[in-house]
Amino acid sequence: MKCAVVGGTGWQGAGVAVRIASAGHTAIIGSRIPARAESLAKKLPNLTGLDSELFQFSENAEAAKNAEIVFVTAPMNAHEQIVEHIRGSVKGKIVVDVTAPVDPENQIENLWPVEGSATQQAQRILEGEASVVGALKNIAALALLNYKKESPCDILIVGDDLASKHTVIGLLDEMNLTSYDVGSGEVCRTIEGLTSMLIYLNYAYHLRQPGLKVQEIDPGLDFIPDEDLFNYDS
Ligand SMILES: NC(=O)c1ccc[n+]([C@@H]2O[C@H](COP(=O)([O-])OP(=O)(O)OC[C@H]3O[C@@H](n4cnc5c(N)ncnc54)[C@H](OP(=O)(O)O)[C@@H]3O)[C@@H](O)[C@H]2O)c1
Repeated sequence: MKCAVVGGTGWQGAGVAVRIASAGHTAIIGSRIPARAESLAKKLPNLTGLDSELFQFSENAEAAKNAEIVFVTAPMNAHEQIVEHIRGSVKGKIVVDVTAPVDPENQIENLWPVEGSATQQAQRILEGEASVVGALKNIAALALLNYKKESPCDILIVGDDLASKHTVIGLLDEMNLTSYDVGSGEVCRTIEGLTSMLIYLNYAYHLRQPGLKVQEIDPGLDFIPDEDLFNYDS
């Protein structure tokens, strides 16, 4: 399968492209300037040991046109523009929006769009064209690039179409990443807000690549019957 990574010449785009190739799929790295995407597409096989044929490059809309699934890894201040740019190239496809609204000038703050979140903005722009799924917003690029390591953290998935979310969960599983469907596109504001929180943790506690892991609270915890706890008559 061919997957595009639109706005793919930054850290997160490189990480997503590597994970796509690690699953045996072709990553078409997109850029406004194809020479930039070409440069990255040529460096990633040497860096990762992955087959060079799995990395292609193209202008953003062209990359989206030639792919079955389209990832968007744009900075928030370019998100609306870039999603509008690929609108005519994603008919009937799944668009995986990786963008977090982190302010590039101050990464512990967010540039929230009026729609509520980056994913909801993409849903508005691509309504009737593509099915938008939000994913990979809380995982550091370095964790994606280290594709041989077991899923370092869990991926939270949001979107309004269950079948599209299941397709993305299956693709991420091929990429050695564990993911959970955590709700509709409306939930995405919560998920996207966690990214700046993780960056804050990084700064405040000098944590290297903090991430999220879904864990069951100890199932051995003692059960307290609510009729004992909330019986106010005795
Ligand atoms: N980096 C991480 O560890 C990480 C982790 C979680 C989430 N994220 C999210 O992932 C997204 C990408 O992060 P990143 O660090 O890879 O971003 P980035 O390096 O700032 O940008 C990625 C690419 O977007 C393109 N771009 C920049 N301004 C543009 C504009 N005005 N119009 C069109 N394209 C433009 C550039 O490609 P060209 O110049 O080649 O066109 C750039 O190389 C962000 O939303 C970020 O919050 C990142």
